[in-house]
Amino acid sequence: MAQQDDVFKKIVSHAKEYGFVFPSSEIYDGLSAVYDYGQNGVELKNNIKRYWWDAMTLLHENIVGIDSAIFMHPTIWKASGHVDAFNDPLIDNRDSKKRYRADVLIEEQIAKIDDKISKEVAKAAKRFGDAFDEGQFRATNARVLEYQAHRDALHERFSQAMNDNDLEGLRQIIIDEAIVCPISGTKNWTEVRQFNLMFKTEMGSTADGSMTVYLRPETAQGIFVNYLNVQKTGRMRIPFGIAQIGKAFRNEIVARQFIFRMREFEQMEMQFFVRPGEELKWFNQWKEWRLMWHKALGLGDEKYRYHDHEKLAHYANAATDIEFRMPFGFKEVEGIHSRTNFDLSQHEKFSGKKIQYFDPEINESYTPYVIETSIGVDRMFLSVLCSSYEEEQLPGGDTRVVLHLPAPLAPVKCAVLPLVRKDGLPEKAREIVDDLKFDFATHYEEKDAIGKRYRRQDAIGTPYCITVDHQTLEDNTVTLRERDTMEQHRVAIADLHKLIHERVSLSSLLRKLK
Ligand code: GAP
Repeated sequence: MAQQDDVFKKIVSHAKEYGFVFPSSEIYDGLSAVYDYGQNGVELKNNIKRYWWDAMTLLHENIVGIDSAIFMHPTIWKASGHVDAFNDPLIDNRDSKKRYRADVLIEEQIAKIDDKISKEVAKAAKRFGDAFDEGQFRATNARVLEYQAHRDALHERFSQAMNDNDLEGLRQIIIDEAIVCPISGTKNWTEVRQFNLMFKTEMGSTADGSMTVYLRPETAQGIFVNYLNVQKTGRMRIPFGIAQIGKAFRNEIVARQFIFRMREFEQMEMQFFVRPGEELKWFNQWKEWRLMWHKALGLGDEKYRYHDHEKLAHYANAATDIEFRMPFGFKEVEGIHSRTNFDLSQHEKFSGKKIQYFDPEINESYTPYVIETSIGVDRMFLSVLCSSYEEEQLPGGDTRVVLHLPAPLAPVKCAVLPLVRKDGLPEKAREIVDDLKFDFATHYEEKDAIGKRYRRQDAIGTPYCITVDHQTLEDNTVTLRERDTMEQHRVAIADLHKLIHERVSLSSLLRKLK
């Protein structure tokens, strides 16, 4: 675990050193859980968004996109349930004056017990070697059984309290488990209170009577309230989807793990409107399609798993998360939810406008049901970054840091490097850049020794380096160096475009999504 923490720290500092992610407002000592994307980060982020957008809108004839405003009528958030129920349970420690999420304190307690069990298993595995039977050990070892029974009872009590919205119950668990504040080390806890996660601001001048508006905590509601506009103007027939990418804001209490949990973040959401009764068929279909989208990136199939929700929100009839193995464990990257007709019905009720679809195939009007796919851009970015980072030991004792980014997502696709800064090589290299730059993000670099320049490109994940040397001037060939294998091949300048395109184009990735 400590080793994983170290790797994560290195990834965070690499992200800063190479212009991917900076802490926001850094020269003013930062702003908690807010980050800025640098020159390479913004390109990687845009490529992720383009991959999602094209997979939705190009590959599905019946999905169109929108871009709705961040500010929306405040009644929307009443209708959606966010004003009343978009809360986290909070608890304060009276001595340190620090505030915590009560549910997170308990989850961490459960994780500690899991850790103890894992340590027992690891110790025994070491002791017994090849003869070790983990299943049997877990089922019979007295200490493990004791930990497991404690864990299960705690988990059951915690789930019950969360489901019943039992704030006193949550506090009692914290007291009974003797959970202490990590800062003061004391158990001097306040009551647990609900805390709404939406940011508020005022619209209009106070003299005219201002109105409280919210920064949207999800992009989905912008889709629901435009359902009628899009369906009518686009002459959409059910089933159809509306996709959107945009910022969302949540006043997260516990914001940690870099860009995993932020206060300002970006979502890519798609609402798929279907006939009532067909929602579970579409839910399963979207579960499959979304996992395929993730796996096509080639980060490793074993890094993904579904987490099906046992307890569902009152309006949902199925929900699952796609989790990714981050350095700090399997974590949710995307949610797929069957939201019934809850949102459209609520907006019908609160707005007084009829939101119905006349289905000509069955000659019936109904409020459509919705399957939602909702993925965080920043979490996706983090999963790509973490699984691409490698400190590679090279033959001869040398090391290099390389980002094995999926080539279509790489911020820079190729770098053109004159071997020396004289003899007409820079001019020849510039000619190549001027040809490639219309189709690929192309860097030109002439400073430092060639090996150093290769390392800099490896560190930002550039799939190809093109080196221009004296032979280039004679026969119009260059060396093409591949990032992952570091192999170099002599190729004709005339073939560069085709060779690079085959590997880095987004269409090559999209074609994997049959
Ligand atoms: N419309 C449904 C919805 O918003 P959610 O599970 O709350 O569902 C969807 O959020 C996705 O948004 C998550 O799977 C995650 O990737 C991303 N997300 C949520 N809160 C986030 C935060 N504070 N920081 C970064 N990403 C977040």
